[in-house]
Amino acid sequence: MKVIGSMTAMQRQSDEWIRSGESVGLVPTMGALHEGHLTLIRRARKECKRVVVSIYVNPTQFGPKEDLAKYPRPRRQDLAMCRAAGVDFVFAPQNLYFPDHSSYVEETIVSQGRDGTSRPGHFRGVATVVLKLFNLTRPTRAYFGQKDAQQVDVIIRMVRDLNVPVKLIIVPTVRDPDGVAMSSRNRYLSVEERATAVKFAQLLQKATKQKSKPASWLSRELKRVTSLRLDYVEVAGDRLCAAVFVGKTRLIDNERLVS
Ligand code: PAF
Repeated sequence: MKVIGSMTAMQRQSDEWIRSGESVGLVPTMGALHEGHLTLIRRARKECKRVVVSIYVNPTQFGPKEDLAKYPRPRRQDLAMCRAAGVDFVFAPQNLYFPDHSSYVEETIVSQGRDGTSRPGHFRGVATVVLKLFNLTRPTRAYFGQKDAQQVDVIIRMVRDLNVPVKLIIVPTVRDPDGVAMSSRNRYLSVEERATAVKFAQLLQKATKQKSKPASWLSRELKRVTSLRLDYVEVAGDRLCAAVFVGKTRLIDNERLVS
């Protein structure tokens, strides 16, 4: 497994695989890898000749009061997990922005509401870094988890609108045995907070089976749980989406509505 640390080295490498015509699968991550990421990597491994995992905690998608500084960066463990999963290249740059960076990608419809409201500027940062990662690695396929439902919608729209030559593969959310959707931020949770996260996941599952007004039902039930603070509940397409704060940790989740 080769670790690539700069944009120029990454471009040199991707020039090579474009020339050779090999299929390349990209799994973009911010590190702190878990079973959810490994599921994406395994799928890429099955479908592509070369697998690249990018590890970059992207500062432009964090708000000024968010957890950029304390976001977990267990680099050695991440590299060991990539190696064991058969990854060919890890792209782990220190920085992806020029000091006078001034160009951004802004999706203006599906990025509105939900996380777009709670985290102003978040999706502009995500779309910008994802397009940069696509341009640097030039993947045939790129793999994203359904847990970040709105992020997935923004990336699908960006790829369509800007004619980006990549096939997006969206992989179902991976859950721990207790039902909690896997997330790098779960590491922040204390034992008591983890119990609240379980309750959140259980109520979301239950809400999808409500015959009428699942969003109102979930909203009402979540407000009764005193150990969390509701951010939003919303139906988006055929999915019920919600975000809550458990202590200082913000958790998002979504499930398909049962029709
Ligand atoms: O989902 C994530 O981990 C990030 O938002 C992504 C897609 C790697 C962009 O920084």
